[in-house]
Amino acid sequence: MAGACTPALVAAISNGGGLGSLGAAPMKPDVLRAQIQKIRALTDRPFNINLFAPASEQFDPAATLGDAARALLENYHQELGLGELTSPAGIYGPAEEQLAVLIAEQVPVISFHFGVEAHHVAAIHAAGLKVICSATTLEEAIHLDALGCDAVIAQGSEAGGHRGTFIGDYQRAMIGTMALVPQVVDAVSVPVIAAGGIMDARGILACKALGAGAVQMGTAFLGCPESGIPNVWREQLKAASPSQTAVTTVMSGKPARGLANRYIQDMEALEGAPMPYPLQYALSGAIRKKAAEQGNSDFLAMWSGQGVGMLRELPAAELLKALVTETQTLLANLVD
Ligand SMILES: Cc1cc2nc3c(=O)[nH]c(=O)nc-3n(C[C@H](O)[C@H](O)[C@H](O)COP(=O)(O)O)c2cc1C
Repeated sequence: MAGACTPALVAAISNGGGLGSLGAAPMKPDVLRAQIQKIRALTDRPFNINLFAPASEQFDPAATLGDAARALLENYHQELGLGELTSPAGIYGPAEEQLAVLIAEQVPVISFHFGVEAHHVAAIHAAGLKVICSATTLEEAIHLDALGCDAVIAQGSEAGGHRGTFIGDYQRAMIGTMALVPQVVDAVSVPVIAAGGIMDARGILACKALGAGAVQMGTAFLGCPESGIPNVWREQLKAASPSQTAVTTVMSGKPARGLANRYIQDMEALEGAPMPYPLQYALSGAIRKKAAEQGNSDFLAMWSGQGVGMLRELPAAELLKALVTETQTLLANLVD
C-alpha cells in the first residue's frame, strides 16, 4: 500500500508468518534502498516490494487541463494557502531504476500493479526472485500466467486503492472477489492470491473455498498503529460504512476506491474527464500534502476497500495472530 506502509508494518506481518509488503511506487531509488535496509533490520523473513508498471509513469504530452478543473484546483490552492498551480512533475519511479535496486538487494518477492513487462519477469527470474502481479479480469490473469508470473493476485472490485486494471475498460473490470477468484483459479496454472474486501476469518476461509492459495489484505491493516496514514484518515475509516467508499478516477486519473470527500464530489460534478494518470495525481499532489499537514480530510486520497466497517485497531502482529486463530476456529466450527 503505497503511502500507507511502513517497514514496521511489513516486518510485523513477515515475522508473524505472512508476507509483509511495501508499496514503493513513489520511492526514489535511494529512499527505496534505505526502506529495504530498515525492513531487513526488523525481520529476517521473506517480504514483498510492490512497484507500478513503468507504463503508468508516462505523462501524456497532449493532455490539457479543462478550464473548470483548473479553476477548481486554483480555488483549492487559494483556500489552503498554496501558491500558483504549477506544471505537474513526475511522481513515480523510474520503475527501471527501482527494479534495479530490488534485484541488487535480492528482494525475495517483487510485485507489480497495472501489469508487468515480459523483460521484467525475465530479469527477476534470472536473479532467482519471485514476481507476482494484480489482475482484475480473467484476460489479465491469463496474460500474467502466460508471462510466467509465479502467482496472480485476483483483485476484486471491493478492494481499496487503485484498480490494477491494465487491459481494457475499467468498468468492465469491476468484478467482485466472489466471482473473480474461482474463475481465475480455473483459468491459470499458478497459485491465486485473492484480494478485495477480505477483513477477517470469514473472508479468508471464503477465499480458500473459492480456490485461492492465499489472501492479500490491505484495508484491514490500515487501522494498525504501524500503518503510515495520517490520523484524520484513520478517524474517517473508523466511522465509515461501505457505502461511503467509491471508485473514482478524479483523484489520480486512474480508477481507485477510497472514502468519498469534498474533492471527489466537486471534481466529479465537473464536465469532462480528469487528466490522464498520473497527471491528475501529480496536479492534486500539493493539495493532498497540505491537507495531510492540516488534518483536513476534504482533499486527501483516503483509499479504502468496502470491508472498511470491519476495521480493527490492533497492532499488526496481534491482528495477524487473531486472524490465524479465528480462521482455525471458524474452520473447525464449519466442519463440525
Ligand atoms: C491505502 C491503500 C493503498 C494501496 N496501494 C497499493 C499499491 O501501492 N500497490 C498495489 O499493488 N496495490 C495497492 N493497493 C491495493 C491492494 O494491493 C489490495 O488490492 C487491496 O488492498 C485489497 O483490498 P482490501 O483493501 O479490501 O483488502 C492499495 C490499497 C489500499 C487500501
